[in-house]
Amino acid sequence: MLEGKKIIVGVTGSIAAYKAAYLTRELSRHGATVRVTMTDAATRFVAPLTFASLSKHPVALSMYPEHEASGSWHIDWALWGDAMVIAPASASTIAKLANGISDSALTVIATALRGDLFVAPAMDVDMYHYPALKKNLATLRSFGIKIIPPGTGELASGLSGEGRLAEPDEIVEVLRTHYARRTSLRGTKVLITAGPTREAIDPVRYISNHSSGKMGYALAEEARDRGAEVTLVTGPTSLEIPAGVRVVKVTTAEEMASAVDVYREEIDVMIAAAAVADFTPAHVASMKMKRREMSEDEMSIPLVPTRDILKSVGATKRTNQIVVGFALETRNLVKSAREKLIEKGCDLVVANPAGEEGVGFGEEENRITLVEVAGETELPVMTKRECAVAILDVVDRMRQEKKFIEEKKSDLNVGGDETGMKN
Ligand code: CTP
Repeated sequence: MLEGKKIIVGVTGSIAAYKAAYLTRELSRHGATVRVTMTDAATRFVAPLTFASLSKHPVALSMYPEHEASGSWHIDWALWGDAMVIAPASASTIAKLANGISDSALTVIATALRGDLFVAPAMDVDMYHYPALKKNLATLRSFGIKIIPPGTGELASGLSGEGRLAEPDEIVEVLRTHYARRTSLRGTKVLITAGPTREAIDPVRYISNHSSGKMGYALAEEARDRGAEVTLVTGPTSLEIPAGVRVVKVTTAEEMASAVDVYREEIDVMIAAAAVADFTPAHVASMKMKRREMSEDEMSIPLVPTRDILKSVGATKRTNQIVVGFALETRNLVKSAREKLIEKGCDLVVANPAGEEGVGFGEEENRITLVEVAGETELPVMTKRECAVAILDVVDRMRQEKKFIEEKKSDLNVGGDETGMKN
């Protein structure tokens, strides 16, 4: 998976710098072309010559190297790299990246990089738990930078705890998985519903909810980045339309249902992330309702149920289609999600708690539990993009399982009798 990939290894000042030498060698061994940049502090731990020899390329050490004629050599590096992995990443380099400070070859390249940036922190346990570090890591995550968490164990200081650089083999595996994901939905048609719906009461008023659409949009972007052909049916949101995605804008639950009807036959995966209104006013007043013209017995709005889009797609899905629903619950999270899984014919229900501070509706992060027939997986608080990665990993796994079963079935039928057994 790393064949032909151009990867920049960034080494910062940490005793774990010696592990970056092994990482450089392993990345090359897996087919990547590697270049290395080091901070000044890193050169105190390992000689640049080690990395120059392993990567077969001069190491970028200074902002103003004598051998570089061009003033924009660092931009050339940044454009060259498909990915950059900073391992070990010290607390100060993490702080610089979180604040956009580019005062060394390494930080200049990292901030100018167009490819994917991976950061593998390494430091002493107390530094790792320093509040600013946590905040800076969260900031990097919110930028879409991938954090490779440190391990727990004995540290160079003699203390024990979190802060050990992830093992080079683990880092290589993270990169390999990352690139495997990049093609995992190639040729797959994915339909995603997102955002709220608005149900008109009169020409100026409507019933809606607090959905921001962020989760559905993150899913659309992640599916697109995995090579899928994505259709995003979205209710009104203030989000930027993702590039490379077919977007169908709707307002009401009925419009969303009709838009889904257009694509439901042809799709391989449907993810219902929209917060669809369950009820809509039975009649829409043609004129604005006036307070002074309303008597007390008119102070109620009769409602009728909307079409349940997810349930209807789930009820008619083909065996090779995958249907994913969401369940936003204030209580009995997993139990309610499991009921929806069965009732709405889903392969997966993403359960998320309502009313929890900092996560869910309108927030940047979410805390999801993935509920399947076979069991559930509770995940920690993550950015919505990270949640999208986890959800699509399950979808990908389910698609492979279905494909495997189909292949086995057709193997059994080849030259078989009516029982499907081979002769
Ligand atoms: N959904 C849908 N169409 C609707 C209502 C909901 O496609 N008319 C989808 C949502 O996109 C979500 C899932 O169904 O994926 C769960 O929605 P929710 O409103 O929580 O479930 P309900 O079945 O309405 O149950 P309840 O409100 O009682 O929890």
